[in-house]
Amino acid sequence: MRILAVSGSVRADSYNTLLLRAALEAAPEGVELELWEGLGELPMYDQDLEDGGLPVSVRRLREDWEAADAILFSTPEYNGSIPGGLKNAIDWASRPKLEAALTNLTVAVVGASTGQFGALWAQTDLKKVLGVAGARVVGTEIPVARAQERFAPDGTLLDDELRAQLRLHLETLAAAAAPVETRAAA
Ligand code: FNR
Repeated sequence: MRILAVSGSVRADSYNTLLLRAALEAAPEGVELELWEGLGELPMYDQDLEDGGLPVSVRRLREDWEAADAILFSTPEYNGSIPGGLKNAIDWASRPKLEAALTNLTVAVVGASTGQFGALWAQTDLKKVLGVAGARVVGTEIPVARAQERFAPDGTLLDDELRAQLRLHLETLAAAAAPVETRAAA
């Protein structure tokens, strides 16, 4: 089972990316989690580009996401919702409508913020947006509050309970995911 890990933050020291790196290490047997980077290279969604020749960055996004068995997203919260760049990537991956990379793809979300609520609003919005885009959203939210206190200076996750939660989340995601070769028939 090959699961992509997509961080909604392109910041070099992003807590959301660190959270996904921790998930990488906590992954259960049989789950290969791979960090996907490329969010920052995408142009703003433009329907004219669908007809006029897709940029390489968009082609790569669609191919990579479609080839995954599932995706685990980690989102920060920007002004009470998901970052515009993450929404933009989802918009690109939701088209063409009936053969989009996100169609029937099994996904789950986690999220970290430096505030008290652990990007809970952003995770709720992300689940809604992914569902509308055609993905199969599984699992609950994992709100990681005060993220600046959860990692050692070298990026190691300091919270064993959170590590166990991440593992369980991945088990749920992997159990629900249809392997990529059977997804078209789902
Ligand atoms: C934030 N932050 C933030 N935090 C929060 O809990 N709720 C919010 O609505 C917002 N809004 C917000 C807007 C913008 C534009 C920025 C840049 C930041 C703080 C945010 O949680 C913090 O910067 C995280 O560290 C961002 O995640 P990464 O980059 O560390 O993954």
